[in-house]
Amino acid sequence: MNRLPAHRSIVLIGPMAVGKSTVGAQLARLAGREFLDSDQLFEEKHGPIPAAFSSYGERWFREVEARIIASVLARRDQYVLSLGGGAVLDTGTQQLLGQSTVVFLEADADAVRERIKRGGNRPLLQSADQDPVQRWSQVFADRESVYRRLADLTLDVRDGSPEVLATELMTLLENRPGKEVQ
Ligand code: S3P
Repeated sequence: MNRLPAHRSIVLIGPMAVGKSTVGAQLARLAGREFLDSDQLFEEKHGPIPAAFSSYGERWFREVEARIIASVLARRDQYVLSLGGGAVLDTGTQQLLGQSTVVFLEADADAVRERIKRGGNRPLLQSADQDPVQRWSQVFADRESVYRRLADLTLDVRDGSPEVLATELMTLLENRPGKEVQ
């Protein structure tokens, strides 16, 4: 069953640790669509992201990430795709996103603090001179304007379980006029 009116894929963007993967998986379930996650696709093929950063560098990671995303965005079926936080920096990816409905999951440092402190797979938050939450804030500040520019919709994810947020997002998407591809 697919209750979304628009014949477009849904792409979730936003900074690290805001819940793009968990909300995305829930949304896909509600919408009866396949769920894809760029970090997961990367790791299935190339192993853990931190190891890739340390062995080959961020630049290599970004090139591979952009290729993976381009191949998903070239598909003609409709799915829900969550992007790694920095994927939107690639100008090719930015252009390809014009074909999808892009949702920016917005949060702040307070909302993601506990998740960041529990650790995880995020080499960009490892810094010798900044704590991970400060580092998160800085990375977010650097990218915020890109997220806002690319977004068709913004969802505040500071409060609420993934289930509640996905239901809220589903309602927003269902009631969204236009931007349909026939
Ligand atoms: C990154 C975010 C990560 C992952 C990589 C780089 C970033 O994904 O792609 O560690 O540059 O913001 P999440 O946003 O899922 O944490």
